[in-house]
Amino acid sequence: MATPSIQTPLPDEIASGAAPGQLEFTPQQLLANDPHEEPLIAGGVLCHGGFLDGDYVSPRCLFRTPAIQNWQRRLLDEGHALISLPTRYVPPHYPNYAQAKLLLQQGVVDPITRSLTLISIVEGFGARIRDVPLPDLRGEIVENIDGTALAHLDQGLLEAHARDEAGHRSEGGHKQMWEAARDLGLDKPEVPEDVLLQMMSGQRRSRPERAFPDLSERMEALISVMSNVMVIEIFAEDVFEWAKQLLGDPEVSADPAAGAAMVAHIQSDEKPHVQYLRTALSELRARTLRSEDGKREIPGQQVVDEIFKRQLRGMATQRPREQREQLRTEVRQSFEDEARATELARQFDSLDSGWVFPHRDDEPIEILLETA
Ligand SMILES: [Fe+2]
Ligand SMILES: [Fe+2]
Repeated sequence: MATPSIQTPLPDEIASGAAPGQLEFTPQQLLANDPHEEPLIAGGVLCHGGFLDGDYVSPRCLFRTPAIQNWQRRLLDEGHALISLPTRYVPPHYPNYAQAKLLLQQGVVDPITRSLTLISIVEGFGARIRDVPLPDLRGEIVENIDGTALAHLDQGLLEAHARDEAGHRSEGGHKQMWEAARDLGLDKPEVPEDVLLQMMSGQRRSRPERAFPDLSERMEALISVMSNVMVIEIFAEDVFEWAKQLLGDPEVSADPAAGAAMVAHIQSDEKPHVQYLRTALSELRARTLRSEDGKREIPGQQVVDEIFKRQLRGMATQRPREQREQLRTEVRQSFEDEARATELARQFDSLDSGWVFPHRDDEPIEILLETA
């Protein structure tokens, strides 16, 4: 049987990559792959990306990576800042590596299977980013947005992101790659039936209050979604390190080399996600927003900073608290033998990193700014 190939021959005009300082790109360019020789097959599924000289090559980066670099350079050259998230705000994955290893060594596999399956489901939901309704960017932003990441959100950037996360047509993406990593490391574990249900129960959120009711609903929603996803993507860095350590540990992993390598491939694909989102948010920050009725102007910096901080605080406090509670309950229920379960829970808790968000609810938080 011939090996299937996802390598699409590139037309001459897009095979050369971006020109220095190029700021305008077509959707076809932003979705174009670097050349590679061999496809990536994960769990029997043909996935995106591939291998060149044995090294993994992330998908859709031929123009996307230099494009983002050029937009960032422009922003910095014009004297504006790029927003970042200080690492002290990033909650460590729960359970941590030592706790997860303890569970696997005790034969308590379900919580780890659940955790890895949840990640794959969340990745699959990433497809929804292409459906975010965009506001009238040119009408609602006072300054020009030609040659920016903002102007390219619906010109390939959101589509590339959606495809990376959920796959595209018959080609698998991160959803399938995480499932493969889980099955490699945990030797095709039985997936608990309640995974989806548990996830839904953790998602009952009331509709958030509008922070800037003068702006169009779409504009506020776009800034919220981009901030939310940027925070998730940055928090995910810790999940990757955790998963590489755990699935790469020969004492508990069925296939340490392949399991850890699969996670590393996904990790490398995530880089453009954080970068385009922080670029677009920083471009908004450097501009002025118009109220929906056209009567007021609001500095983008005020809006982006406020919404970004709200998202960050919510995700760094509420979610880890819920996840921690849920998992501690599971551990306590893991054995029918009560004495055994209590002993495991005691050991498990003794390995807890004890991380808490560094600021009380009423304390201000700072975002980091990178300047030229
Ligand atoms: Fe992803
Ligand atoms: Fe991502």
